[in-house]
Amino acid sequence: MRILVLGGGGREHAIVVKLAESPMADEILVAPGNGGTAAIATNVELDIEDGAAVAAYASEQGVGLVVIGPEGPLVAGVGDAVRAGGIPVFGPGAAGGRLEGSKEFAKDIMRRYDIPTGFSAAFTECEAAMEYLEDVEAPIVVKADGLAAGKGVTVAMDIETARRAIKECFDGRFGDAGSTVLVEEYLAGPECSLLAFTDGDTVIPMAPAQDHKRAFDGDAGPNTGGMGVYSPVPIVTDEEYASMMASMVKTMKGLAADGIDYRGVLYGGFILSEEGPKVLEFNARFGDPETQVVLPRLEGDLVEIMMATAEKRLDEIEIGWRDEWAVSVVLASGGYPDEYEKGKVIAGISDAQAMTDVTVYHAGTKIGDSGDVLTNGGRVLNVTALGCDFAAARDLAYAAVAKITFEDMFYRRDIGAKALKGRSAWEA
Ligand code: GLY
Repeated sequence: MRILVLGGGGREHAIVVKLAESPMADEILVAPGNGGTAAIATNVELDIEDGAAVAAYASEQGVGLVVIGPEGPLVAGVGDAVRAGGIPVFGPGAAGGRLEGSKEFAKDIMRRYDIPTGFSAAFTECEAAMEYLEDVEAPIVVKADGLAAGKGVTVAMDIETARRAIKECFDGRFGDAGSTVLVEEYLAGPECSLLAFTDGDTVIPMAPAQDHKRAFDGDAGPNTGGMGVYSPVPIVTDEEYASMMASMVKTMKGLAADGIDYRGVLYGGFILSEEGPKVLEFNARFGDPETQVVLPRLEGDLVEIMMATAEKRLDEIEIGWRDEWAVSVVLASGGYPDEYEKGKVIAGISDAQAMTDVTVYHAGTKIGDSGDVLTNGGRVLNVTALGCDFAAARDLAYAAVAKITFEDMFYRRDIGAKALKGRSAWEA
């Protein structure tokens, strides 16, 4: 089968690596892909948010499965266009994509289907949002309703910061994405990502993972797309896991009751609060970098799983998890998540990749004219290691990181450090 994967990050490289292991995958096309996918698949140029263009290309190329990686094409309804052309798609259409594309839509689902989350109120007028601030206390969270490339969330430690964040949204900093603004309860506690394959009826959880969103050690600095991750998450209790799963299942039941056909990944971002796990956000796709630790642990044929999801027969599938730990460290360009330079030559990838149980997933990379691997984004590489326990996986990941260099490279040196200390690390 010929498979088309949309996206070009570390998540998509991890998906392509896993798809390529399947005997069902004859050829994989990736749009736009990156320096890593170029080595194992064919990178193609395509406007991945143009549903008609993607559907036409997939049809011309005789593609048997389209896999949508990032949120942009999901929210733009690319899945609907491809499905209408009769090609199976892994990823929801625009209606399901709203779970990620509109934070108020997601909160409404949670309110109506009794899914634990923080309180929130949505506003389309600046003055009303400002008035609401008089009734709440800091810390409080201000969010642009729509997709804002991860920059639309402000955790305001004081009301003045919340006021500024609301004003920025209504002044157009995030365009249409900020024309509705949510003011939300600040939830304290460790975060945990739970991803699940779902065809709308069956929900098959993946192993939990924990991302590190802040740029610098000690959870300092600005929020990023994610600087490192590990799986499983030792601090999650059985009760918490059961509660997170119940929220995921209720969400899918709620979407189905609302007539929404959802096939792909449901990503629950949870806070393990003192009152139990609460949903911080839902995403309608695989997490990045969560995928880079979850898929290496997956025992199962990803093409088979994705086809079964796309064809609504996920109940036929059984999956397992390797009894190993996975840790992934993100290597980033100096300046990320703000301004950074591209085009730096990366050395040492093959030395790191040659280590047993290490995989170097490319994110923002490309192959230069001379054949060198060059930086081409903020998050450049994800170095993933598997180990018989958490400490072994972590030590191996950092040993592999030590082999890689590029100008202005930076990375967090404390991925998994809190988890090694246990729950008390979050109480300080
Ligand atoms: N790990 C954060 C995200 O995928 O949105």
